[in-house]
Amino acid sequence: MLTTVILAAGKGTRMKSRLPKVLHQIAGRSMLGHVLAATGDLGSDASLLVVGPGMDEVSAHAKGVRPDLVTVIQENQLGTGDAVRAAAAQIPSGDGVVLVVFGDTPLVRTETLADMVARCRDESDIVILGFEAADPTGYGRIVTAGANVLRIVEHKDASEEERAIRLCFGGPMAIRAAHLASLLAKLRNDNAQGEFYLTDVVAHGRAVGLSCSAVLCPESDIQGVNSRADLASAEAVMQKRLRAAAMAGGVTFLDPDTVYLSHDTVFGEDVTVGQNVVFAPGCRIARGATIKAFSHLEGAEIGEGAEIGPFARIRPGSSIGRKARIGNFVETKKAKIEDGAKVNHLSYIGDARVGEGANVGAGTITCNYDGFNKFFTDIGAGAFIGSNSSLVAPVTIGDGAYIGSGSVVTRNVSPDALAVARGKQFEKPGWASSFRSKNAAAKKSSGD
Ligand code: UD1
Ligand code: CA
Repeated sequence: MLTTVILAAGKGTRMKSRLPKVLHQIAGRSMLGHVLAATGDLGSDASLLVVGPGMDEVSAHAKGVRPDLVTVIQENQLGTGDAVRAAAAQIPSGDGVVLVVFGDTPLVRTETLADMVARCRDESDIVILGFEAADPTGYGRIVTAGANVLRIVEHKDASEEERAIRLCFGGPMAIRAAHLASLLAKLRNDNAQGEFYLTDVVAHGRAVGLSCSAVLCPESDIQGVNSRADLASAEAVMQKRLRAAAMAGGVTFLDPDTVYLSHDTVFGEDVTVGQNVVFAPGCRIARGATIKAFSHLEGAEIGEGAEIGPFARIRPGSSIGRKARIGNFVETKKAKIEDGAKVNHLSYIGDARVGEGANVGAGTITCNYDGFNKFFTDIGAGAFIGSNSSLVAPVTIGDGAYIGSGSVVTRNVSPDALAVARGKQFEKPGWASSFRSKNAAAKKSSGD
């Protein structure tokens, strides 16, 4: 029996934000979302989320990710120990393990947590997660004797000597369920912060002869997020991780440090990504596609061998077909660009289909919005849209049709027809020179 308790009731005041701390994002997913993902694979029998009063946004978000989650309200934010107490009534006692995880450590890995749970089941009554901090300021320090953990002392309560300890508590703690209630009952708030610390469970456990040990992980797997600077630092770690995974899967990054990925970006093999490319959430890039420099993609499917950019903006609902080509300064939104179609320069294609092999000339715009509603533009296979055309939706361009450059197309065009919808060109021979000489003479006589 495994019960997971995620603590997210803290006010997060150090973030200086109206948004609850755990909803701040790392790689396009909330910190809480990352923690839910890491704990989701543990096979917990029950999962509890502790939130503060009025944090409905957090509970709703969490339930959206994990509908089976039970939310518990911690009435007053009296500390991490008090938060677990708030959940205690919902935690089955007996011979299982209770795993407490903080909502503000988004980098924690499932393997590490699984290791802790296994160790708690088999060896120690209490297992904590520790790491060597480059700068331990602010973290709880782990006081050890050999392999045994004696206690955790919070930074604000630590002596000079204890502050020199670099082994810190990362947040996750596994406790045998049978001991939980009696340990929580022992917590007192006579400390520097006047809080009920979860970390005191260790010393109380030792005092009654329970064993406590630590599983260790790198700092980059457990660093906590308390401020915007911490958030940026966690983002950087996550980006490194995502880039490494993509490269291991067969993606070439021309300059990895300048490419930004989301937690859910999916790449096929032999994708090449140029410099300064951003993948916002919801992108799948198929095998052999090339995403050139300075492109931004979100909620998009890119087909095999397609070429995107440089400087392309691929917005949600875009699906780019095999070997299709989207060039510079092109924006697509809710657009299906079918196999081999080309939109190479300076276009906006929104709420549209561009049929297989069609060619959309430079500066073509789908006029999809009248200020109230969105309308669809359908461009048939093999159609050719002359440069600088405006396609006023709803409108259909038949397969193989031609649109003369500079047209404003307001009516459907039949397959294989030519449509030209622009002012007719006319010419007056010699007009310019007579215009100039007339004006030059007038200027001279007025003496200006
Ligand atoms: C805590 C630990 C510290 C550890 C660090 C790791 C305690 C007392 N200290 O410190 O040893 O090194 O995390 O990052 O546990 N929370 C509640 N209710 C509360 C208070 C907090 O749910 O009343 C939640 C917060 O939302 C947060 C987590 O518990 O997700 C940790 O709280 P926080 O105040 O950030 O603790 P730290 O000071 O970082
Ligand atoms: Ca914290």
